[in-house]
Amino acid sequence: MFLYGDKLKEVFLKAKKERFGIIASNVVFDCAVRGVIQGYEVQKSDGLLQMSSGAVKYAAGFTKDMNVGAELISSMIKILANQHKNSGVGLHIDHATPNYFDFLVYCIENKLVSSVMIDASHEPFEENIRISAEVVKIAHKNNVLVEGEIGYIKGTEDEIVSDTELYTRPDEALEYVQKTNVDLFAASVGTNHGVTKGSKVVLKLDLIKEIDELLISKNVETGIVLHGASGLTAEQQQKAIQNGVVKINKDTRYQMEIAAAVQNYWEKEKNSIVRPNDISVDNYMPDKKRFDPRKWIVKGEDAMQNAVEELVIITGSANNSILI
Ligand code: G3H
Ligand code: CA
Repeated sequence: MFLYGDKLKEVFLKAKKERFGIIASNVVFDCAVRGVIQGYEVQKSDGLLQMSSGAVKYAAGFTKDMNVGAELISSMIKILANQHKNSGVGLHIDHATPNYFDFLVYCIENKLVSSVMIDASHEPFEENIRISAEVVKIAHKNNVLVEGEIGYIKGTEDEIVSDTELYTRPDEALEYVQKTNVDLFAASVGTNHGVTKGSKVVLKLDLIKEIDELLISKNVETGIVLHGASGLTAEQQQKAIQNGVVKINKDTRYQMEIAAAVQNYWEKEKNSIVRPNDISVDNYMPDKKRFDPRKWIVKGEDAMQNAVEELVIITGSANNSILI
């Protein structure tokens, strides 16, 4: 079932209280959307799908009209999610930088999304607070949650590129949360966007705990978000959740899953579309039953679903939907 902000808030409150993590999955295509939603449903887990600025531009086709792309992805998700009863699914906008302010307002006011991320973390701190607070004011009026960010997360994610790592400071996190009233915020604790191996990443998981405890002690408990989480080990994710993380973002993992599944299919079935050298042109017929896109795209969809099922079991949100 599709969840708007008020219900999504319940999801995060339950996750924080019971210390499990909600997976937020970046999507663009319909096969990815189906795979993710089916994964949440089978495991009776709530979860988010999220669209980046690049994803909505892509979805719109050559006009790259972001509003059109968002309408398309949002309606696809709402229709597919509303077929199911064992999991609540929200739609989130990932990493919208201040230049996309009008796009955020469009999505919020047209009820396309359950939550949005305003990422003004590359602005001076006071400016980050001002912009984030403005988004919160508009979003909360429209039953939409807001995620902000402080610090830099290293690596490349879609249009967001950072060569440096800047860890989130607990005192800044407190001031940011108090002055903006965000529902969630991304803390920079050493994860990297992109292809990384968790065992090689130096994480400051104690920093999450320090931030969480400070916010709780000042009566402004807020959901902490872990970005760049694709390569992390199960143990790293579980420790992060124990320390206060409620939302874990995944993008690269799924891109790899789809690519590997499709490559695997074509390795096996290449003769169905390309004539082998030892068969003459007259004797070769491509095999429509195998090159029909529904036969190979679905391999990516299944791989997404399997990955989601594995992830929600790791983070403990399986069998924990607010709907069951
Ligand atoms: O917001 C999305 C995530 O931070 C993506 O990180 O590419 O490491 O999965 P990832
Ligand atoms: Ca940042």
